Amino acid sequence: MPAVQMAGVTKTYRGKGGTPHKALDGLDMTVDTGGVHGLLGPNGSGKTTSIRALLGLVRIDAGEMQLLDRPVPAGLTGVIGDVGALVETPLFFPGFSGRRNLRLLAETAGVPRDRVEECLELVDLRERADDRFTGYSLGMKQRLGIAAALLKAPRLLILDEPSNGLDPAGIRDVRELIRRLGSDGRTTVLVSSHLLAEIQQVCDSVTILARGRRVASGPVASVLSRAGTGDVRVGVPDPAAAAAVLGAAGFTVSPAPDGQVLVHGAPAPGEITRVLAEHGHYVEELVRVTPDLESAFLAITGGQA
Ligand SMILES: Nc1ncnc2c1ncn2[C@@H]1O[C@H](COP(=O)(O)OP(=O)(O)OP(=O)(O)O)[C@@H](O)[C@H]1O
Ligand SMILES: [Mg+2]
Repeated sequence: MPAVQMAGVTKTYRGKGGTPHKALDGLDMTVDTGGVHGLLGPNGSGKTTSIRALLGLVRIDAGEMQLLDRPVPAGLTGVIGDVGALVETPLFFPGFSGRRNLRLLAETAGVPRDRVEECLELVDLRERADDRFTGYSLGMKQRLGIAAALLKAPRLLILDEPSNGLDPAGIRDVRELIRRLGSDGRTTVLVSSHLLAEIQQVCDSVTILARGRRVASGPVASVLSRAGTGDVRVGVPDPAAAAAVLGAAGFTVSPAPDGQVLVHGAPAPGEITRVLAEHGHYVEELVRVTPDLESAFLAITGGQA
């Protein structure tokens, strides 16, 4: 059973007197149960709109959606107890401590107090739990928001750009937390981001959005390899001469940033080694270059973004 399904979801915003704007344009998305799934797209591609639609916060024009096998929005009441979400910075009482804020939320949701302590522990806020919310750093506020989303021990946790606005330490903490939650075997995490590196670090699988449509999806590694150039970096004592030999043998070569030789077009490493050895060049290093998501994104979307 997929944790999330969206099929042909369309949402048009009609501004006052302005031209209608298609935020979601036939979006399909499937999030399998378990692990961390990324929703990756540039600003304005529809990440927040699709998350808000899934949570019943935005009414869609057309399409079908399911959360944990229940239809959305019709079946939301039956499933929302199993879903935790952090979409906007949640509202906390600034003068209350983190613990008191969570206890209030827990009471409202009928969650036992022990769970508040577990959640504070999960997000590493235990030591500062009695400080007033106003005194928290942005990262701590965000982690308290995640703790609030975790109170009900949700099977599905949805986080909209949770590391936005945080400093490097805050970003690292939030990413580690997401990885930890995604590997506990019972929680599925759906996390949106406009940062390719973040998805690469944190997610097992990914849906890539551009202009309200899915442009690629699958395991992070295979989405990467699909867009991958398949370059191989060859380290030799005389890169210029080796490049000439490889070029003459029909390989497409260019200089690597470090001065060594890049061979393009997914060549067979054994062939490279053989051709070079026949000409007296002995390979000292041979590395398949994995493209980063930055270039993968450009390759996949073909500039659509
Ligand atoms: N309430 C709204 N009224 C009108 N247009 C909206 C509204 N919310 C979103 N949009 C438009 O819909 C499109 C998608 O917006 P959305 O916020 O879903 O993108 P996003 O991928 O979350 O972007 P970001 O990375 O900036 O958060 C944008 O063009 C945006 O301007
Ligand atoms: Mg957004």
